[in-house]
Amino acid sequence: MSRDDTFYITTPIYYVNDVPHIGHAYTTIAADVLARYWRLRGREVFFLTGLDEHGQKVQQAAAKAGVDPQVHCDKLAPQFEKLWRRLNISNNAFIRTTDDGHKSVVQRYLQQLYDKKLIYKDSYTGWYCTFDERFWTEKDVENGLCPDCKRPVEQLSEHNYFFKMGQYQNQLLDHIKQYPSFIRPESRRNEVLGFLQTQKLGDLSISRPKSRLSWGIELPFDNNYVTYVWFDALVNYISALEYLPLEKPASNRFWPANVHLVGKDILTTHAVYWSTMLMALNLPLPETIFAHGWWTVDGEKMSKSRGNVVDPNKMVDELGADAFRYFLLREVPFGQDGDFSLTGMVARINSDLANGLGNLLSRTLTLIERTQAGLLPAPGPMRPAERELEQATVSLLNEALPRHLEQLEFHRALEAIWHVIQLANQYVDKTAPWTLAKSASDAETLRTVLYTMAETLRCLSLAAYPVIPTSAQSICSQLGISVEFTSPLLRSKIEWGGLKPDTLIHKGPSLFPRIESKPGAKPVTESSVPSQPTLAAPTATAVSAPPAPPQITIDEFMKIQLKTARVLSAERVPKSEKLIKLQVSLGTEQRQIIAGIGKKYEPDALVGKTIVIVSNLKPAKLMGIESQGMVLAAGDADVQGLLTIQEKVDPGTKVK
Ligand code: MSP
Repeated sequence: MSRDDTFYITTPIYYVNDVPHIGHAYTTIAADVLARYWRLRGREVFFLTGLDEHGQKVQQAAAKAGVDPQVHCDKLAPQFEKLWRRLNISNNAFIRTTDDGHKSVVQRYLQQLYDKKLIYKDSYTGWYCTFDERFWTEKDVENGLCPDCKRPVEQLSEHNYFFKMGQYQNQLLDHIKQYPSFIRPESRRNEVLGFLQTQKLGDLSISRPKSRLSWGIELPFDNNYVTYVWFDALVNYISALEYLPLEKPASNRFWPANVHLVGKDILTTHAVYWSTMLMALNLPLPETIFAHGWWTVDGEKMSKSRGNVVDPNKMVDELGADAFRYFLLREVPFGQDGDFSLTGMVARINSDLANGLGNLLSRTLTLIERTQAGLLPAPGPMRPAERELEQATVSLLNEALPRHLEQLEFHRALEAIWHVIQLANQYVDKTAPWTLAKSASDAETLRTVLYTMAETLRCLSLAAYPVIPTSAQSICSQLGISVEFTSPLLRSKIEWGGLKPDTLIHKGPSLFPRIESKPGAKPVTESSVPSQPTLAAPTATAVSAPPAPPQITIDEFMKIQLKTARVLSAERVPKSEKLIKLQVSLGTEQRQIIAGIGKKYEPDALVGKTIVIVSNLKPAKLMGIESQGMVLAAGDADVQGLLTIQEKVDPGTKVK
């Protein structure tokens, strides 16, 4: 459908009724990742985001603030733009629907449809929801409440202009059936299909009498009315191409858009209103409308009244833009709902970013500094271990990354990148370069290992760049190379061996410092930060002092496997006051657990005890040592007592 040398991606334009939150950041970050990826692939990208400034919501917000709607929009707009700069959003344009250029395109389209008799005037009586700015029919309304937002509706009768949307029902059905990737994910496509196959599509009221709403674009054929905000807003995807500054005339090069990213709540307006508007205007439909899921916060719907709205600015301040970007796209498959918790985010930062990628970079650079005077060595012949890592790295860039990103499977793309990071860290553990450094006869092998580590990191920086652009850049500069990430680096297949021996590395500050518990620190959301379970091993620790945690269901609790374990041996982890390395028996298997109980217990006192562990916790590294589980203890920042079983119970017995 669209050409192969351009890529046009859009986000919804956001209502300026309040400051931006995590939901706005989510779509915009996802769009940015695709924009950056396609630029790497050599396409000319047009990435559009912006603001929806008309309509009742904005008018009400301005009235509440006691200012003129335009003044209100002008005051809030910079907050969105500033956030996008802080999150490293690389949009090519920023549209505001109060721009004159946009308004004139909307009026032109309205006039065209009016002239073609596709817009007509009629009277309408129905149940109106002020919040959702829409009418509902008698059968939609339950107990006088809006079926969508559950607020009371009122009966309203008025004359309005209607767009003959209903006549496109079959054409739209055919289009959705013919192009399976027009509406994604599949489950959402089926919802829209189901609706269109079972219900009659009505016409759409595209005007509002000025007596009820004045904040909008005047209808070109009747100045008693303004345009319905959705008709106005959807047109932004095309008006931007016409009037925003672009080097060459853009609409015929970029339209139809490749991807409209939207949240699941605004899929119908895009899949049905926008598509039929385009059909009426004889314009091609976008290639894909992708509806992503919604974030809850600590298991609850995010809302101002609950005080749990996640402020992306605070995330950037406290945890960094890259970490926030990574977490949002790694945590939840795009298209599904997800839950945001600070504990979850800190856990991911520590395990994936600090212990995974950060550790790989820091050990590589430290070894090159210490054993090669900071100069990247020339590798000797590759052995099977190096070939294996080379193969995994190259196929990540040439196969897995394009496959997943082009399907908008961000979490899978990240999983694939982190799989290679894990392989690389395992390769380092197995080849033990610090031991090789001790013997002159291993000098060549050491050089091979160090080169392989550095070259893997170079390739990983390319793969991870769309999601964590600042860190990717930092990896390259620490490796001593200058990489222009805005050039089409992935246009052709990536080959191993891009790093030149004798390059001088520049070890810099740690990419992702581990986040340790800071009791009393300010929370990063306005909300209550969930309390950290009193688990002794210091893996993911909350950033702030916690009020009560959200309730969980029994099913959620049952996911955690608690088992008894007998302590076989215990020793302190060198250079740590707090950590003790335990070897424990679970009856049929033996595990190594690193527990943060060293301030309370001497290792010898632990041997022989039957303790309780979380046995299905993903292994994590603490000070470079793998921990295969977690012991339970009472206490918060300081451990006060270990959970032990007095009775004679077999190790490996389930605890519930
Ligand atoms: N102005 C319209 C869009 C017009 S597009 C032509 C609008 N604006 S909005 O500001 O209310 O919402 C913008 C986006 O934020 C929607 O895609 C919505 O799904 C998303 N989110 C709002 N809350 C969200 C979460 N809690 N989680 C994820 N995204 C959510 O609708």
